[in-house]
Amino acid sequence: MLPIVEIRNVAQYAGQEVVIQGWLYNLRESGKLLFPLFRDGTGTMQGVIVKSAVAPEVFEQARHLTQESSVRVTGKVRADQRAPGGFELDVSELEVLQRVSPETPYPITPKEHGIEFLMDHRHLWLRSTRQRAILGVRHEIIKACRDFFDERGFTLVDTPIFTPAACEGTTTLFEVNYFDDKAYLTQSGQLYNEAAAAAVGKTYCFGPTFRAEKSKTRRHLTEFWMIEPEVAFARLDDVCALAEQLVAFVVERVLARRRAELATLERDVAKLEACTLPFPRLSYDEAVKVLREKGCPIEWGGDFGGADETILSERFDRPVLVTRYPSQVKAFYMAPDPARPEVALCVDVLAPEGYGEIIGGGERLADLDLLLKRIEEQHLPRQAFEWYLDLRRYGSVPHAGFGMGIERVVGWICGLEHVRETIPFPRMLYRLTP
Ligand code: 4AD
Ligand code: MG
Repeated sequence: MLPIVEIRNVAQYAGQEVVIQGWLYNLRESGKLLFPLFRDGTGTMQGVIVKSAVAPEVFEQARHLTQESSVRVTGKVRADQRAPGGFELDVSELEVLQRVSPETPYPITPKEHGIEFLMDHRHLWLRSTRQRAILGVRHEIIKACRDFFDERGFTLVDTPIFTPAACEGTTTLFEVNYFDDKAYLTQSGQLYNEAAAAAVGKTYCFGPTFRAEKSKTRRHLTEFWMIEPEVAFARLDDVCALAEQLVAFVVERVLARRRAELATLERDVAKLEACTLPFPRLSYDEAVKVLREKGCPIEWGGDFGGADETILSERFDRPVLVTRYPSQVKAFYMAPDPARPEVALCVDVLAPEGYGEIIGGGERLADLDLLLKRIEEQHLPRQAFEWYLDLRRYGSVPHAGFGMGIERVVGWICGLEHVRETIPFPRMLYRLTP
């Protein structure tokens, strides 16, 4: 039996006969020679088929192979300095698992396609070199986040997706039927994280979150993945440090392990290499000053829009931490600054190069009466929050945490124009398929 080999490992098999399983990416013909290009999910490799060296039916079959037909190929691995991966396959046998019918050819060809066409064919588009590179970087980012928290004594506690109430404001809630009742798709695992933090001290959750975002921007999805740490006894400064360390760790990991993917994406890695600690910090007050100097019409008390965040981040070559936003633009659970109750003890991390907010978090309101007041002021259903209020009745402690949106981070690190390419199957205002 010949070894079945992944293309990424062919170097270990130079001079040997192997079997490659994959798909036909491209086919060139030159007289009595065929040059099929195979891909197998781990890489691409050129095969050479010499008419006189193979059975006539093998040559004929290969000659009529269509793009994305699935194949099992036998051949000898030969080092060739001119070949893209350094090796070629001298094909001796070919088994066609499924030939794509020439009547319904593979829809994605090397020519340019419009973005809507590609999005409609997302299930096939994922096979392209570029999309595969993005998937690889996304995987690395997620793995790095998990390693970061696992290595620091955090316990992973999964939080629910069906929830009885809003976490991040009622305007972006997805309501679903829940038997005879209503439920909402979670906007964030935070409230449950707070319960978990009182149980295990340091916790994180990682899962899909949902926002009924009516905005059609390059940064918004309706379904996105968030990694959310929560730490008992932590204060704002502690989570600022944790957030910047996480971001630096993730960037470093991708630079160490995914250079090839970043090269495929033509990412300027110097911009990522600049993201070393410490990251600059800016108070909301200072940020408003900067924006007004640049001619933005922002008043103190308003939230920043995407354009404002771009202007702020452009002043720095690495992510910037913006702290102490006005409480009125932040969620009900934010702790006010005791010295200045009109601002919240919160932090947003803005990515460089105009990629906007990648992290939001801060210190939580630990006082029962203040929290109750907030819930009333914001007209939230107290009944649904009773369990959350218990956390303030039974050994309330200062605590803090944040959430980092994986897709925003993938978009920034890969240097993508739009968040739609950062997730395998994006969900947006006008996109629910495939
Ligand atoms: O700032 P947000 O709304 O914070 C929270 O949900 C907190 N409860 C998290 C916490 O403290 N545990 O969202 C956090 C991050 C944002 O910084 C952004 O990266 C991402 O989630 N995000 C989105 N990403 C894609 N599409 C959307 N519609 C997003 N909304 C937020
Ligand atoms: Mg936010």
